[in-house]
Amino acid sequence: MASAAEHYENLLAGVYTWMSGGSGARIDANRAFFAARGITPRGSGAALDLGCGSGFQTIPLAQSGFAVTAIDLSEKLLEELKTSGVGLNIKIVRDNLLNFSRHTTGLVELAVCMGDTLTHLSSVDEIKRLISDIHGRLEDGGRLVLTFRNFTGELPHGERLIPVRSDDSAIFSCFLEYEPDFVIVHDILYERGPAGWGLKKSFYEKLRLSPPNVVKIIEAEGYRNVTLEEERGLATIVAEK
Ligand SMILES: C[S@@+](CC[C@H](N)C(=O)[O-])C[C@H]1O[C@@H](n2cnc3c(N)ncnc32)[C@H](O)[C@@H]1O
Repeated sequence: MASAAEHYENLLAGVYTWMSGGSGARIDANRAFFAARGITPRGSGAALDLGCGSGFQTIPLAQSGFAVTAIDLSEKLLEELKTSGVGLNIKIVRDNLLNFSRHTTGLVELAVCMGDTLTHLSSVDEIKRLISDIHGRLEDGGRLVLTFRNFTGELPHGERLIPVRSDDSAIFSCFLEYEPDFVIVHDILYERGPAGWGLKKSFYEKLRLSPPNVVKIIEAEGYRNVTLEEERGLATIVAEK
């Protein structure tokens, strides 16, 4: 089984921005997401983007005035962010997001871990540790934002092969297999080259996180005003210190 880092380097990072619908659309959607929740710099202006990828959250946060520390393991995706983030107040760090506190000095007013990054961690214990470490680094009134897929239910047989995106030169789909605590995600990519269609495939694990359980972990850590929304299988949690 590939680790998340290997899976991104071998297959996913090269097509991540394309298969997500393109950076412009994703950045606009996240700009609207933050605006709808009144997430603009009010305190120190320091923000953390944990598992930033190519910057779908980092870019709109930096454009709205945050100084963003953007952390990810994928060299390819961080290269994309380096290009699209020119001129913005972004510190790019290649490391495990669990080590975020090594890369910040002082407190931050916002920490985001969005776009299903949380399910890439290895265990609920790692998530508890992350939520606790973030609490220790947030200013009073600072906010934590998590978005992740709810894989606790199982898609029926016949619905587990999911077409993601295709065009004249590439076809991307994924297939889900369920284990008690994890879903095994098989990513399947056909790309058209000079010699015809070529197949790349790789699989990795994602945690089957229950959104209400994540809320309990957050509340037990002492966060307040914790809200949970779920739409089309995507959980959004916002909490305040
Ligand atoms: C589904 S992508 C989300 C990226 C971005 N937040 C978005 O919404 O597009 C998950 C990202 O988390 C990164 N990632 C996974 N596990 C990580 C870890 N332990 N530390 C740092 N980055 C990690 C991957 O490299 C990938 O860029």
